[in-house]
Amino acid sequence: MRTDTPQPIKLSDYTAPDFLIPSTELDFDLAPEATRVRARLTVTRQGPANAPLVLMGERLRLINIRIDGQPVESVVTDETLTIASVPDQFVLETEVEIDPLNNKTLEGLYMSSGRYCTQCEAEGFRKITYYLDRPDSLSKYRVRITAPRSGFPHLLSNGNLLEKGDLDDGRHYALWEDPFFKPCYLFALVAGELDVYEDTIETVSGRTVDLKIYVDTGMKTRAAYAMDALKRSMKWDEEVYGREYDLDLFMIVAVRDFNFGAMENKGLNIFNASLLLADPTTATDADYERIESVIAHEYFHNWSGNRVTCRDWFQLCLKEGLTVFRDQGFSADQRGHAVARIKDVKALRARQFPEDSGPLAHPVRPSSYVKIDNFYTATIYEKGAEIVGMLKTYVGPQVYRQALDHYFAANDGTAATLEDFLAAFEAVTGEDFSPWMAWYTQAGTPQLRASSTYDAAAHTLTLTFAQATPATPGQAQKAVVPIPIRFGLLSQDGDKQMFRHDGHLASEALHILRGADTTIVLTEVKSPPVLSILRHFSAPVLLHIEESGNDAFARFRGDPDAFNRWESAQGLAKRIILAERPDADLIDAFAEGLDACITDENLDDAFKALIMGLPTESDLAQHMSPIDPAFIHKNRNNLKSALSARLFDTLRDLYRSIPAPNTFSPDSVSAGRRAFRNALLDLMLARYNNAENKDELIALAESHFGQATNMTDMVGGLLALTYVQGTPYQNALDTFYDRFRNEPLVIDKWFSLQAAAAHPDTLDRVRALSQHPDFDAKTPNRWRALVQGFANNQSVFHAPGGGGYQFLVEQILAVDAFNPMTAARLVEPLSRYRFYTSPYRENMQTALQTIAAAPNLSKNVLELAARALTEEHS
Ligand code: PHE
Ligand code: ZN
Repeated sequence: MRTDTPQPIKLSDYTAPDFLIPSTELDFDLAPEATRVRARLTVTRQGPANAPLVLMGERLRLINIRIDGQPVESVVTDETLTIASVPDQFVLETEVEIDPLNNKTLEGLYMSSGRYCTQCEAEGFRKITYYLDRPDSLSKYRVRITAPRSGFPHLLSNGNLLEKGDLDDGRHYALWEDPFFKPCYLFALVAGELDVYEDTIETVSGRTVDLKIYVDTGMKTRAAYAMDALKRSMKWDEEVYGREYDLDLFMIVAVRDFNFGAMENKGLNIFNASLLLADPTTATDADYERIESVIAHEYFHNWSGNRVTCRDWFQLCLKEGLTVFRDQGFSADQRGHAVARIKDVKALRARQFPEDSGPLAHPVRPSSYVKIDNFYTATIYEKGAEIVGMLKTYVGPQVYRQALDHYFAANDGTAATLEDFLAAFEAVTGEDFSPWMAWYTQAGTPQLRASSTYDAAAHTLTLTFAQATPATPGQAQKAVVPIPIRFGLLSQDGDKQMFRHDGHLASEALHILRGADTTIVLTEVKSPPVLSILRHFSAPVLLHIEESGNDAFARFRGDPDAFNRWESAQGLAKRIILAERPDADLIDAFAEGLDACITDENLDDAFKALIMGLPTESDLAQHMSPIDPAFIHKNRNNLKSALSARLFDTLRDLYRSIPAPNTFSPDSVSAGRRAFRNALLDLMLARYNNAENKDELIALAESHFGQATNMTDMVGGLLALTYVQGTPYQNALDTFYDRFRNEPLVIDKWFSLQAAAAHPDTLDRVRALSQHPDFDAKTPNRWRALVQGFANNQSVFHAPGGGGYQFLVEQILAVDAFNPMTAARLVEPLSRYRFYTSPYRENMQTALQTIAAAPNLSKNVLELAARALTEEHS
């Protein structure tokens, strides 16, 4: 292990800044390789009288620096600028030169498709000018941008446009002012040629807000859906959270080159184009759904993030967890609560649960970090959202709204902490919420055990709940956490059953487990019950119910809680797939249950599509020790193929009964119908290798693909042909490529679909694709399409020879040389090597060691590789 591991930053070391910068004036003279940035900062001391002024700055060429108009001595390092002695109040003027064209980190000011754009969260502003680049430093900004008029007709920044005009030499300028105090990570600038899709909205108090979405020229119509989603988000936040927009202008810009999804800069959101542009022929229903939720997410940040921001980056989930919870609520209202919840839990299990059980496990509020960029994780986002959801479940919707109103009012215009968030719940309830803090400070997924005994004579049910959280790196001892458990009872036939609890007769109740274990007694339970625990997934825990093997079937048949109905199917599938030998009776029973679901006219199509989906290979791996990826892959395929054979006639009848759509609407009912139809096709094709009707199957898949009138069905057809391989698959891929060769977002899909194919040839194909003329590691969307698509492809990534790991190592090291933030995000797939069986385990470890030993590694990648390799795992 290397010894030059960078020093971590600790939450316990937090101190308030020694200086305030109440006003910030920036003047940008844009040029691709030599942009001049002049800053005029008013600075006031709030710390000790002798404290030096230390500003952050990276990759800046200092040209000029003055205090109150006078030249001043400063000491510049790679990361800071220090002035030893400064007055208590002064004006600091600096001028620096930066090189946006060659900035491939995509942080600070950079160029994408010939346009200037910025990304400052978390610590990118220091690549623009010397500054107090920390979220508790709030300032009012005035920004002047100068650029040639030709090529850069639009000059955008945060807030309101004060002035614009022409200058000599074909140049022009714009002057922007943001009336709200903000931290520098919310600063944004965009300059270039763009088309604008415009609309307006009237807010609840009657103000008119101009809405402008800026996209690549020629792409205007593809912004229509994002605009629609934006207007619905704005209305929803007014109605559901009482939050009104606060400027007269709201702008969104789509860019091709972006490290993450999107960014909530005040009044000027910047989006990865893949999360903004949509039309039926290029975007899938999943894309539409993501766009809707990310538009909402970034817009909602205007209150949860911007008006109330974070004191320090340890509080990241204060804005992210809350904002994810808010966007999930919005999506659920738009698309149906049960289906939305199932999808959210699937995502949580796919990404957060593995993270929380491996060497990279960290609390939702970490206590130390090397690079904060590495903490934009599923834990901080998704587990953070779950905590807010549990608080809401606990206090109920009305009190939750009061608590949030209180939180926004009490902290408006400040940089807050998680303590401030919980204090709002305390203020409106008068209760002590400190036990909830353990959810924020403690890593690891709690395990919840439920068991019961039924007294048939007394008609009572004694229910026992117990919790335990396994040790995680650096945290051997775990405290108990409050766990909201929503539960109900069913009869053995799967009908709902009443019971008396806390004096109420009900079919569902909520219990908060506060200690390590508890026992509660339900009375008036008429018949031997089946438990339905953790309805709507009321807490992010791993549930184990002690029950008879048939109880899951009762829930599968009729649990009125749609989440638990879906969950029962997942559990049964897991049981079948992970068994040492196949259990034909169990498979028959499962197939019958599935048959009943998919032919039930009372269930909606989106739900049917979900219940047909078997647990993913990575989810299954969580339940196997040691993990054998080949075993999981084989058994999962076998179950799919068995279901396909048993249900084939039903699948074909249902498939034929749903006409191929010839008009497109992105609404959730239409999307559900497409999802169901594609799921039916997928399951029919799943038995391809064992099928006698191969020609029929090929014809089905080819016509599905060939007749597709939208991208969802095209992708569905391609995926179906993946089972077939050979010429039909290659022909479809070629057709797809030829048709969309000029559509970068669709060519991204072309790369990722091939990388995700569970086929032994995939590694060779992926290697070849990494040499394809359209492959470009400098564009994160394209790089991730291939490399992340591949790393998530369990059976191929974990090829026995270790070749998949080697490919990933090469890719991470290549990208780390210019874009550490993006490279580091792909270390995670190697991190859980200890949980795998040989030889996977050794091969993964070797791959990680190769990364850790590489010369000139970034802090980002080094931090993750070092944490993954640390011996201590408790
Ligand atoms: N704050 C962004 C969000 O809404 C995420 C992000 C972080 C984007 C860092 C870019 C860089 O989730
Ligand atoms: Zn966010």
